[in-house]
Amino acid sequence: ENKRLFDYNIFLIGFMGCGKSTIAGYLHDTFSMDVVEMDDIIAKREGMSISDIFETHGEQYFRDLETNLLVEMQNKSNVVISCGGGTPMRENNVLEMKKNGHVVLLTAQPETVLQRVKDNHDRPLLENNKNVSFIADLMAKRSEKYEAAADIIIQTDGKNEQEICEEMIQRL
Ligand code: S3P
Repeated sequence: ENKRLFDYNIFLIGFMGCGKSTIAGYLHDTFSMDVVEMDDIIAKREGMSISDIFETHGEQYFRDLETNLLVEMQNKSNVVISCGGGTPMRENNVLEMKKNGHVVLLTAQPETVLQRVKDNHDRPLLENNKNVSFIADLMAKRSEKYEAAADIIIQTDGKNEQEICEEMIQRL
């Protein structure tokens, strides 16, 4: 019988391209943890891509869907929840996470983020802003909220998935 790795939920937060989905996938593949990909669920429910949701309904509509989905996570346990990059910007969302689990912030340098996002076209906030200075500015605006939400912070530059997960497991 597999021993459970954690007996609480893990909320992965952080800027776009910091590795939330990658690490969630690794935890799923390696430890059979259940994963909730917030963006994927929202896109699936709406029947359109994140970019199309932003374009059709606006960002606030998307943010409300995120908040509603987080509230739904209340009844889950022992899952990894890969949040959208903007999810911790609402204070109530952070309270919701803290009530239901442990919050892990993944960070990366703007240059690393740019490399990781440059070929992706479903990030409306970055679509016409794929450069280091835009990424650095938005990251700087958000960092205080990210850090306040985090139980632990893991810097991901130059580390592979296994190293990041080992660090996470050790420190949680
Ligand atoms: C956003 C990040 C995206 C997605 C949406 C908005 C943000 O998620 O939720 O495009 O505000 O940072 P990822 O961090 O998974 O790219």
